Amino acid sequence: MVNTSVDLAGLRLDNPVIPASGTFGFGYEFAELYDINILGSISLKGTTLAPRFGNPTPRIAECTAGLINSVGLQNPGIDAVLSEELPRLAKVFRKPAIANISGFAIDEYVTCVEKADKAEQIGLIELNISCPNVHNGGMSFGTEAKSAYEVTKAVRAVTKKPLFVKLTPNVTSIVAIAAACAEAGADGISLINTLLGMRIDLKRRRPVIANVKGGFSGPAVFPVALRMVWEVYEAVKLPIMGMGGVSSAADVIEMLLAGATAVQVGAANLVDPFACKKIIESLPAEMEKLGIESLEEIIGGAHNG
Ligand code: FUM
Repeated sequence: MVNTSVDLAGLRLDNPVIPASGTFGFGYEFAELYDINILGSISLKGTTLAPRFGNPTPRIAECTAGLINSVGLQNPGIDAVLSEELPRLAKVFRKPAIANISGFAIDEYVTCVEKADKAEQIGLIELNISCPNVHNGGMSFGTEAKSAYEVTKAVRAVTKKPLFVKLTPNVTSIVAIAAACAEAGADGISLINTLLGMRIDLKRRRPVIANVKGGFSGPAVFPVALRMVWEVYEAVKLPIMGMGGVSSAADVIEMLLAGATAVQVGAANLVDPFACKKIIESLPAEMEKLGIESLEEIIGGAHNG
Protein backbone atom coordinates (compact mmCIF):
# COMPACT_ATOMS: atom_id res chain seq x y z
CA MET A 1 0.00 0.00 0.00
CA VAL A 2 1.64 3.27 -1.14
CA ASN A 3 1.58 6.49 0.88
CA THR A 4 0.29 9.53 -1.03
CA SER A 5 0.19 11.96 1.90
CA VAL A 6 2.42 15.04 2.15
CA ASP A 7 3.09 17.73 4.74
CA LEU A 8 2.57 21.18 3.22
CA ALA A 9 4.00 23.77 5.63
CA GLY A 10 2.34 22.01 8.56
CA LEU A 11 -0.85 21.01 6.73
CA ARG A 12 -1.14 17.23 6.36
CA LEU A 13 -2.71 16.49 2.96
CA ASP A 14 -4.04 13.01 2.09
CA ASN A 15 -2.52 13.54 -1.33
CA PRO A 16 -0.77 16.47 -3.06
CA VAL A 17 -3.48 17.16 -5.66
CA ILE A 18 -5.23 20.54 -5.34
CA PRO A 19 -7.50 22.20 -7.92
CA ALA A 20 -5.97 25.54 -8.87
CA SER A 21 -7.67 28.83 -8.11
CA GLY A 22 -10.03 30.03 -10.83
CA THR A 23 -10.60 26.58 -12.29
CA PHE A 24 -12.77 25.03 -9.57
CA GLY A 25 -15.09 27.80 -8.36
CA PHE A 26 -15.53 27.66 -4.59
CA GLY A 27 -15.36 23.89 -4.69
CA TYR A 28 -18.90 23.02 -3.65
CA GLU A 29 -20.09 23.28 -7.27
CA PHE A 30 -18.10 20.10 -7.99
CA ALA A 31 -19.63 18.19 -5.06
CA GLU A 32 -22.57 17.44 -7.36
CA LEU A 33 -20.18 15.45 -9.54
CA TYR A 34 -18.10 13.52 -6.97
CA ASP A 35 -17.03 13.43 -3.33
CA ILE A 36 -14.60 16.36 -3.24
CA ASN A 37 -13.17 15.12 0.08
CA ILE A 38 -10.78 13.00 -1.98
CA LEU A 39 -8.90 16.23 -2.89
CA GLY A 40 -5.75 17.22 -1.00
CA SER A 41 -7.24 20.70 -0.59
CA ILE A 42 -8.91 23.31 -2.83
CA SER A 43 -7.52 26.70 -3.85
CA LEU A 44 -10.63 28.87 -3.94
CA LYS A 45 -11.57 31.37 -6.66
CA GLY A 46 -9.30 34.42 -6.53
CA THR A 47 -10.79 36.92 -4.10
CA THR A 48 -10.45 40.68 -3.82
CA LEU A 49 -11.63 43.20 -1.24
CA ALA A 50 -14.51 44.52 -3.36
CA PRO A 51 -16.76 42.43 -5.61
CA ARG A 52 -15.62 42.39 -9.25
CA PHE A 53 -17.61 41.78 -12.41
CA GLY A 54 -14.44 40.90 -14.33
CA ASN A 55 -13.25 41.78 -17.82
CA PRO A 56 -15.37 42.29 -20.95
CA THR A 57 -16.06 39.22 -23.10
CA PRO A 58 -14.72 37.30 -25.00
CA ARG A 59 -12.42 36.25 -22.17
CA ILE A 60 -11.30 32.86 -23.45
CA ALA A 61 -9.29 31.84 -26.52
CA GLU A 62 -8.61 28.21 -27.28
CA CYS A 63 -5.09 27.24 -28.37
CA THR A 64 -3.19 24.11 -29.29
CA ALA A 65 -2.57 22.26 -26.01
CA GLY A 66 -4.01 25.00 -23.83
CA LEU A 67 -6.14 28.11 -23.56
CA ILE A 68 -5.87 31.82 -22.85
CA ASN A 69 -8.08 33.42 -20.20
CA SER A 70 -8.71 37.01 -19.29
CA VAL A 71 -11.35 36.65 -16.59
CA GLY A 72 -10.22 39.70 -14.66
CA LEU A 73 -10.67 38.36 -11.12
CA GLN A 74 -14.45 38.09 -11.22
CA ASN A 75 -15.53 37.35 -7.66
CA PRO A 76 -18.13 38.44 -5.07
CA GLY A 77 -15.58 40.09 -2.72
CA ILE A 78 -14.01 38.80 0.48
CA ASP A 79 -17.00 39.43 2.77
CA ALA A 80 -19.37 37.40 0.57
CA VAL A 81 -16.75 34.69 0.10
CA LEU A 82 -16.40 34.28 3.85
CA SER A 83 -20.07 34.65 4.78
CA GLU A 84 -21.71 32.83 1.83
CA GLU A 85 -19.32 30.75 -0.28
CA LEU A 86 -17.25 29.26 2.54
CA PRO A 87 -20.27 28.03 4.57
CA ARG A 88 -21.56 26.35 1.37
CA LEU A 89 -18.20 24.65 0.97
CA ALA A 90 -18.12 23.60 4.64
CA LYS A 91 -21.31 21.59 4.12
CA VAL A 92 -19.58 19.30 1.60
CA PHE A 93 -15.83 19.60 2.28
CA ARG A 94 -14.33 18.62 5.63
CA LYS A 95 -10.72 19.67 5.00
CA PRO A 96 -8.84 22.99 5.19
CA ALA A 97 -9.20 25.10 2.04
CA ILE A 98 -6.85 27.66 0.51
CA ALA A 99 -7.86 31.33 0.22
CA ASN A 100 -6.39 32.87 -2.96
CA ILE A 101 -6.15 36.62 -2.34
CA SER A 102 -5.58 39.31 -4.98
CA GLY A 103 -5.46 43.08 -4.70
CA PHE A 104 -4.72 46.44 -6.26
CA ALA A 105 -2.87 47.98 -3.32
CA ILE A 106 -0.99 46.62 -0.32
CA ASP A 107 -3.67 47.72 2.16
CA GLU A 108 -6.29 45.79 0.15
CA TYR A 109 -4.21 42.62 0.36
CA VAL A 110 -3.73 43.18 4.09
CA THR A 111 -7.44 43.73 4.79
CA CYS A 112 -8.44 40.64 2.80
CA VAL A 113 -5.87 38.44 4.52
CA GLU A 114 -6.87 39.77 7.95
CA LYS A 115 -10.43 38.69 7.19
CA ALA A 116 -9.45 35.31 5.71
CA ASP A 117 -7.21 34.67 8.71
CA LYS A 118 -10.29 34.57 10.96
CA ALA A 119 -12.02 31.87 8.91
CA GLU A 120 -11.59 28.48 10.55
CA GLN A 121 -11.74 26.44 7.34
CA ILE A 122 -9.02 28.47 5.68
CA GLY A 123 -5.89 26.43 6.31
CA LEU A 124 -3.52 28.33 4.08
CA ILE A 125 -3.34 31.73 2.38
CA GLU A 126 -2.18 31.94 -1.23
CA LEU A 127 -1.19 35.52 -1.97
CA ASN A 128 -1.77 36.03 -5.67
CA ILE A 129 0.68 38.64 -6.96
CA SER A 130 0.61 37.19 -10.46
CA CYS A 131 -2.74 37.79 -12.19
CA PRO A 132 -1.90 39.05 -15.70
CA ASN A 133 -5.44 40.28 -16.46
CA VAL A 134 -5.87 43.44 -14.37
CA HIS A 135 -4.20 46.84 -14.43
CA ASN A 136 -2.52 48.54 -11.46
CA GLY A 137 -2.39 45.45 -9.31
CA GLY A 138 -2.22 41.69 -9.65
CA MET A 139 0.89 40.81 -11.60
CA SER A 140 2.50 44.23 -11.10
CA PHE A 141 3.33 43.25 -7.48
CA GLY A 142 4.98 40.07 -8.68
CA THR A 143 7.28 41.40 -11.37
CA GLU A 144 9.71 43.23 -9.07
CA ALA A 145 11.48 41.80 -6.05
CA LYS A 146 10.95 45.02 -4.05
CA SER A 147 7.15 45.12 -4.41
CA ALA A 148 6.89 41.35 -3.93
CA TYR A 149 8.86 41.77 -0.68
CA GLU A 150 6.71 44.68 0.52
CA VAL A 151 3.32 43.06 -0.03
CA THR A 152 4.48 39.74 1.45
CA LYS A 153 5.95 41.47 4.50
CA ALA A 154 2.77 43.50 5.09
CA VAL A 155 0.55 40.44 4.84
CA ARG A 156 2.88 38.31 6.95
CA ALA A 157 2.26 40.69 9.84
CA VAL A 158 -1.48 39.92 9.92
CA THR A 159 -1.62 36.14 9.63
CA LYS A 160 -0.04 33.16 11.33
CA LYS A 161 -1.60 30.76 8.82
CA PRO A 162 0.81 29.26 6.29
CA LEU A 163 1.43 31.97 3.68
CA PHE A 164 2.29 30.98 0.11
CA VAL A 165 2.97 33.60 -2.57
CA LYS A 166 1.79 32.76 -6.10
CA LEU A 167 4.29 33.94 -8.69
CA THR A 168 4.14 34.91 -12.32
CA PRO A 169 6.43 33.36 -14.93
CA ASN A 170 6.38 36.65 -16.87
CA VAL A 171 9.63 37.89 -15.33
CA THR A 172 13.34 37.79 -16.01
CA SER A 173 14.12 35.80 -12.86
CA ILE A 174 11.39 34.04 -10.91
CA VAL A 175 14.11 32.93 -8.48
CA ALA A 176 14.83 36.54 -7.47
CA ILE A 177 11.14 37.17 -6.77
CA ALA A 178 10.81 33.91 -4.81
CA ALA A 179 13.88 34.82 -2.74
CA ALA A 180 12.36 38.23 -1.93
CA CYS A 181 9.14 36.56 -0.74
CA ALA A 182 11.14 34.14 1.40
CA GLU A 183 13.05 37.03 2.96
CA ALA A 184 9.74 38.77 3.71
CA GLY A 185 8.50 35.77 5.69
CA ALA A 186 6.55 33.62 3.23
CA ASP A 187 6.11 29.98 4.24
CA GLY A 188 6.03 28.73 0.66
CA ILE A 189 5.83 29.58 -3.03
CA SER A 190 3.12 28.71 -5.57
CA LEU A 191 4.24 28.67 -9.17
CA ILE A 192 3.53 29.24 -11.99
CA ASN A 193 0.59 31.46 -12.85
CA THR A 194 -0.21 31.83 -16.55
CA LEU A 195 2.07 33.01 -19.35
CA LEU A 196 1.01 36.20 -21.08
CA GLY A 197 -0.31 35.41 -24.57
CA MET A 198 -2.79 36.39 -27.27
CA ARG A 199 -4.62 35.08 -30.36
CA ILE A 200 -5.97 36.86 -33.45
CA ASP A 201 -9.29 35.98 -35.10
CA LEU A 202 -8.35 35.56 -38.77
CA LYS A 203 -11.81 36.41 -40.11
CA ARG A 204 -12.24 39.58 -38.05
CA ARG A 205 -8.51 40.39 -38.08
CA ARG A 206 -8.86 41.44 -34.47
CA PRO A 207 -7.61 39.97 -31.18
CA VAL A 208 -9.87 37.12 -30.00
CA ILE A 209 -9.88 38.39 -26.42
CA ALA A 210 -11.63 41.70 -25.72
CA ASN A 211 -8.72 42.78 -23.50
CA VAL A 212 -6.31 41.71 -26.29
CA LYS A 213 -3.96 39.69 -24.03
CA GLY A 214 -4.54 37.04 -21.40
CA GLY A 215 -2.92 34.23 -19.45
CA PHE A 216 -1.97 31.05 -21.31
CA SER A 217 -2.18 27.73 -19.47
CA GLY A 218 -2.61 24.05 -20.25
CA PRO A 219 -0.38 21.08 -21.09
CA ALA A 220 1.85 23.19 -23.38
CA VAL A 221 3.23 25.15 -20.38
CA PHE A 222 4.12 22.07 -18.28
CA PRO A 223 7.84 21.97 -19.20
CA VAL A 224 8.18 25.71 -18.47
CA ALA A 225 6.48 25.31 -15.08
CA LEU A 226 8.60 22.28 -14.24
CA ARG A 227 11.80 24.16 -15.08
CA MET A 228 10.78 27.06 -12.82
CA VAL A 229 9.85 24.73 -9.94
CA TRP A 230 13.27 23.14 -10.35
CA GLU A 231 15.05 26.52 -10.23
CA VAL A 232 13.11 27.85 -7.24
CA TYR A 233 13.63 24.57 -5.33
CA GLU A 234 17.40 24.90 -5.81
CA ALA A 235 17.51 28.53 -4.71
CA VAL A 236 14.87 28.93 -1.99
CA LYS A 237 14.44 26.52 0.88
CA LEU A 238 10.65 26.77 1.12
CA PRO A 239 7.92 24.28 0.18
CA ILE A 240 6.52 24.74 -3.32
CA MET A 241 3.06 24.24 -4.78
CA GLY A 242 3.86 23.43 -8.40
CA MET A 243 1.34 24.12 -11.15
CA GLY A 244 1.15 24.74 -14.88
CA GLY A 245 -0.23 22.24 -17.34
CA VAL A 246 -0.49 19.33 -14.89
CA SER A 247 -2.95 16.80 -16.31
CA SER A 248 -1.91 13.31 -15.16
CA ALA A 249 -0.58 11.37 -12.18
CA ALA A 250 2.75 11.13 -14.00
CA ASP A 251 2.86 14.95 -14.21
CA VAL A 252 2.23 15.15 -10.45
CA ILE A 253 5.15 12.81 -9.78
CA GLU A 254 7.39 14.76 -12.16
CA MET A 255 6.52 18.00 -10.32
CA LEU A 256 7.41 16.39 -6.98
CA LEU A 257 10.71 15.12 -8.34
CA ALA A 258 11.48 18.69 -9.49
CA GLY A 259 10.84 19.98 -5.97
CA ALA A 260 7.12 20.57 -5.46
CA THR A 261 5.52 19.40 -2.21
CA ALA A 262 1.98 19.78 -3.55
CA VAL A 263 0.64 20.15 -7.08
CA GLN A 264 -2.22 22.25 -8.37
CA VAL A 265 -4.30 21.20 -11.36
CA GLY A 266 -5.77 24.10 -13.36
CA ALA A 267 -6.71 24.09 -17.04
CA ALA A 268 -7.34 20.32 -16.96
CA ASN A 269 -10.45 20.98 -14.80
CA LEU A 270 -11.87 23.15 -17.59
CA VAL A 271 -11.49 20.34 -20.11
CA ASP A 272 -12.70 17.58 -17.78
CA PRO A 273 -14.40 18.38 -14.46
CA PHE A 274 -13.33 14.93 -13.24
CA ALA A 275 -9.63 15.62 -13.96
CA CYS A 276 -8.54 15.86 -10.29
CA LYS A 277 -10.52 12.75 -9.36
CA LYS A 278 -8.94 10.77 -12.20
CA ILE A 279 -5.45 11.97 -11.26
CA ILE A 280 -5.91 11.10 -7.57
CA GLU A 281 -7.35 7.68 -8.35
CA SER A 282 -4.53 6.83 -10.73
CA LEU A 283 -1.71 8.04 -8.43
CA PRO A 284 -1.25 4.78 -6.44
CA ALA A 285 -0.94 2.64 -9.59
CA GLU A 286 1.47 5.16 -11.13
CA MET A 287 3.57 5.10 -7.93
CA GLU A 288 3.63 1.30 -7.88
CA LYS A 289 4.67 1.22 -11.53
CA LEU A 290 7.60 3.52 -10.72
CA GLY A 291 8.55 1.76 -7.46
CA ILE A 292 7.58 4.73 -5.27
CA GLU A 293 6.36 3.82 -1.77
CA SER A 294 5.87 7.32 -0.39
CA LEU A 295 5.38 10.60 -2.28
CA GLU A 296 7.01 12.56 0.52
CA GLU A 297 10.27 10.70 -0.05
CA ILE A 298 10.59 11.77 -3.69
CA ILE A 299 10.18 15.56 -3.21
CA GLY A 300 13.14 17.16 -4.97
CA GLY A 301 14.43 13.66 -5.74
CA ALA A 302 15.63 14.55 -9.24
CA HIS A 303 18.17 16.96 -7.74
CA ASN A 304 20.10 14.25 -5.92
CA GLY A 305 23.27 12.91 -7.48
O1 FUM B 1 -8.21 36.85 -14.86
C1 FUM B 1 -8.16 36.18 -13.83
O2 FUM B 1 -9.08 36.18 -13.01
C2 FUM B 1 -6.94 35.40 -13.59
C3 FUM B 1 -6.37 35.34 -12.41
C4 FUM B 1 -5.04 34.77 -12.25
O3 FUM B 1 -4.45 34.28 -13.20
O4 FUM B 1 -4.50 34.84 -11.15
